Amino acid sequence: MPGKTFTRDWFTKHIPNWMRWLRRFEHQPVHALEIGSYEGRSACWMLDNVLTHPESRLACIDPFQAADGRLARFLANTEEYGFRCRLERAPSSLVLRRSGHPLYSIVYVDGDHRTSMALEDLILVWPLLATGGVLIIDDCDGRGGRDRRPLTAANAFMDCYEGQFARLRGGETPGQIALEKVPKEEPA
Ligand SMILES: C[S@@+](CC[C@H](N)C(=O)[O-])C[C@H]1O[C@@H](n2cnc3c(N)ncnc32)[C@H](O)[C@@H]1O
Repeated sequence: MPGKTFTRDWFTKHIPNWMRWLRRFEHQPVHALEIGSYEGRSACWMLDNVLTHPESRLACIDPFQAADGRLARFLANTEEYGFRCRLERAPSSLVLRRSGHPLYSIVYVDGDHRTSMALEDLILVWPLLATGGVLIIDDCDGRGGRDRRPLTAANAFMDCYEGQFARLRGGETPGQIALEKVPKEEPA
């Protein structure tokens, strides 16, 4: 991305899948939420390629606790989007419990990778996701110790919320799970 500064790239390999999963939101006025933004690589890509409608917005949640320059790079990299990109500098567990969220069409969970915290993020974002919206969960490659394995959280979530989503298939790169929210069946 010309004019931007990044030191890490966990994202580029997923772009073919993201195009497939998110193309339908291009030029639509939608709200997106990203938990875990780092230097803004995935955020900038969404803003440039999916959130292209002038009324589309991206909310980023990241506490930016590490004093390693990532916050300064995030701010510089996202400056050009102005109010279309908003940062909540706090842990997701605090922000997601607040009221006043819009219904999001896209949610990307890539924040605290501890298994319990990843599960908490999934449970807290689900009511905020619109029907027809897409939830993408990162780092579901099964690596990491037992207490740091988002795949365990994703599997537990999918077991408990069965019937409320359709799994979107990805091609080239494994390691992410994408779920489309489907209308909830009310008990008879
Ligand atoms: C893997 S990086 C995100 C990468 C980014 N999505 C990208 O593709 O370039 C994980 C980020 O999650 C953030 N993070 C850690 N704990 C968090 C929490 N409780 N809530 C939100 N973000 C958190 C970290 O500060 C870090 O910037």
